[in-house]
Amino acid sequence: MQWWQHTVIYQVYVRSFFDSNGDGIGDIPGITAKLDYLEALGVETLWVTPFFSSPHRDFGYDVSDYRTVSSVYGSMDDVRTLIREVHRRGMRIILDMVLNHTSIDHPWFRESRRSRDNPKRDWYVWRPGRKSHGKKPPNNWRSMVYGSGWHYDPMTEEWYWAAFLPFQSDLNWRNLEVRKEMRSMLTSWLEEGIDGFRLDIFDCIFEDPQWRDNPFSPHLLPKLDQGISTFQRVDRIRHLDETFLLAEELRGLADSYGGFLVGEVFGDWPVLRRYCGTSSCSGLHLVFLFQSLDAPFTARGFRRLLEQAEAWFPHPWSPVWVFGNHDRQRRMKTLKGSVEKAKLQAAFQLSARGVPCIYYGEEIGMGHGTIPVGESRDAAARLFTDRFPHFLVSLIDRMTGGAVHRDNCRTPMQWDDTAHAGFCSADASPWLPVQADASFVHTAAQLSDSQSLLNWYRKLLALRREYPPLTRGSLEIVRIPAHDRDILGYIRSAGEQAVLVLLNFSSRKISDIPLRYGNRHFTTLLLATGGGHLDPRSVQLDPWEACIFMEERLQK
Ligand code: GLC
Repeated sequence: MQWWQHTVIYQVYVRSFFDSNGDGIGDIPGITAKLDYLEALGVETLWVTPFFSSPHRDFGYDVSDYRTVSSVYGSMDDVRTLIREVHRRGMRIILDMVLNHTSIDHPWFRESRRSRDNPKRDWYVWRPGRKSHGKKPPNNWRSMVYGSGWHYDPMTEEWYWAAFLPFQSDLNWRNLEVRKEMRSMLTSWLEEGIDGFRLDIFDCIFEDPQWRDNPFSPHLLPKLDQGISTFQRVDRIRHLDETFLLAEELRGLADSYGGFLVGEVFGDWPVLRRYCGTSSCSGLHLVFLFQSLDAPFTARGFRRLLEQAEAWFPHPWSPVWVFGNHDRQRRMKTLKGSVEKAKLQAAFQLSARGVPCIYYGEEIGMGHGTIPVGESRDAAARLFTDRFPHFLVSLIDRMTGGAVHRDNCRTPMQWDDTAHAGFCSADASPWLPVQADASFVHTAAQLSDSQSLLNWYRKLLALRREYPPLTRGSLEIVRIPAHDRDILGYIRSAGEQAVLVLLNFSSRKISDIPLRYGNRHFTTLLLATGGGHLDPRSVQLDPWEACIFMEERLQK
């Protein structure tokens, strides 16, 4: 098995992790300073959000030079130190690569917009408009965020395409010079020792070469995993055949350096699988399964999730289990602040087959912030606040689960109970306000509490390292007819070893849960959130309790 098939990813949102120089903004030396914490936590691969030169209108996802480091975050030397220190600890590091678009402040785009015959013109996606004087967008394609994704440029009286925000102009990946330059840029980072890339909105890379309208759909609210945007399907702007071919090509590059690629792509199960190769594991190494964010928090909901993941991503493919990121509502909000449920979810995430991806702060149960839309720093919100009345924007924000602005899942990491939760020095002003609960939800308090969520993560991650079935094992769901509604159970086996995972997704105490399945008998309790009350034949689980057992014949 390859290391990336079972690695544990930890996402660091650079801006919010740790500020080393007192400007209120997290930075690269700040990550290096916290590597001991991450190593002790037991995570294996760091995903660091973009730190390249950028005007930071989308906080780094608008790159103006892929080969240099933004002075806001540090220097190239700082990056080299980070890479070295990560590797010294036996860990890995992947970069967040925004291949789909650059900032409109990138020198390439500045050139491109200058004239229709500029040598860089074809590096971006330009089209003449429709109707009289071309003042209507070329077609009906919508951006991922709001409104048409086409933007009129008076300088040359044409429209450029931006799949995300208006200042993030899409590169034209059909241009061979673009491909060559981007490949060379990726190679130079791999040469620096990077272990792979997270690929930002990879499914948007190509657009329909015939510029046909997207087909109509009756839905108002976008459902990206079903290929639906507001009143249209996204068939002409996502998942084009060439995108899958590019995935294969980039895989070849990453493989030659022993690295991996994890794609941010939105689609149903067959589409996600296609990104990773349909008949052989030949496309992106991994893709995030955002399905886990929408699964009902019930035994049935998570069993269904697992069944689908096993069906669509059987070995040698690996599911990636994700419950939060810098664009989504913090999971603690969905779980209504319940630490018990967060522990149960962590037990699932770290014991199911595949790659867990932990978002910074998830391990201490950081909640969703309370920054109102009107005070947000996120450019995505301004697309709405500039156009609509405040009450409507707030309503849309609530209806979409906080999708209008993303500041609330990006608040500073909570390290201790000093000023600004220890994120930056006392006299600095953090770029986003620290959350109100920071005086008691922080790593320092949780490290010294053996029952804390943080220590539960640490125990689970240690167990994962100790018992190969938890990383390399196959997965078999076990059904307990009397408790099917409440208990999710599965066995992970590798060679001679097997472990049983039992998760109580209910607020009830459940007794008489069998410990014998076929000829396997699990008697040794390895880990439990509660007591894991045990007699030789069965176990009793407390509300929301998670237990992990080892098979009898393997007792040490
Ligand atoms: C991805 C990133 C998001 C960013 C967008 C545009 O969805 O996760 O933060 O704003 O792409 O690059």
